[in-house]
Amino acid sequence: MPADAAADAPPMPSILFVCLGNICRSPTAEAVFRAKAAAAGLDAVIDSAGTGGWHIGEPPDPRAREAGEAAGYSFDGQSGRQVTRTDFAQYDYILAMDRSNLIDLEAMKPPGYSGHLGLFLDFASTFEGVGESQRDVPDPYYGGRDGFKTVVALIENASEGLIAKIKSGG
Ligand code: 4NP
Repeated sequence: MPADAAADAPPMPSILFVCLGNICRSPTAEAVFRAKAAAAGLDAVIDSAGTGGWHIGEPPDPRAREAGEAAGYSFDGQSGRQVTRTDFAQYDYILAMDRSNLIDLEAMKPPGYSGHLGLFLDFASTFEGVGESQRDVPDPYYGGRDGFKTVVALIENASEGLIAKIKSGG
């Protein structure tokens, strides 16, 4: 590649997925989006974090991992961390799994943040199990295994929508 080609390349988009604990929904979003972006030829910086700090350093919840791996996604290398204000300087997209997460993120957002802070399901086109007006990825932590499957399906659809949006110029 010529020396100046990299300078002409569009900057790599960066996406941070955020839920409450960073052990169920946002790790699933990280795993699914990573796989779908790679399959679509989209280079991106991808991470996940929680608004709460209870599970810092922990691996994803085994039930989230089971549901995600059954659908073909890898959670390797993931460990829980808490979102910080520094993340707003580093991520173009900060995507909340539900409205409660979004309210917490809005309260942390520095005044000059020029990226996209919003709900991940705003990029979805189907809303199996939640309804279009809801747009929250339901918290599966206190529920059964079906809840984790619903999370994977919602996240797969929203990931495809976000990838299409980014590839069409953001
Ligand atoms: P997540 O699920 O936000 O999708 O990771 C939860 C994980 C842990 C807790 C709540 C939700 N918790 O209360 O510890």
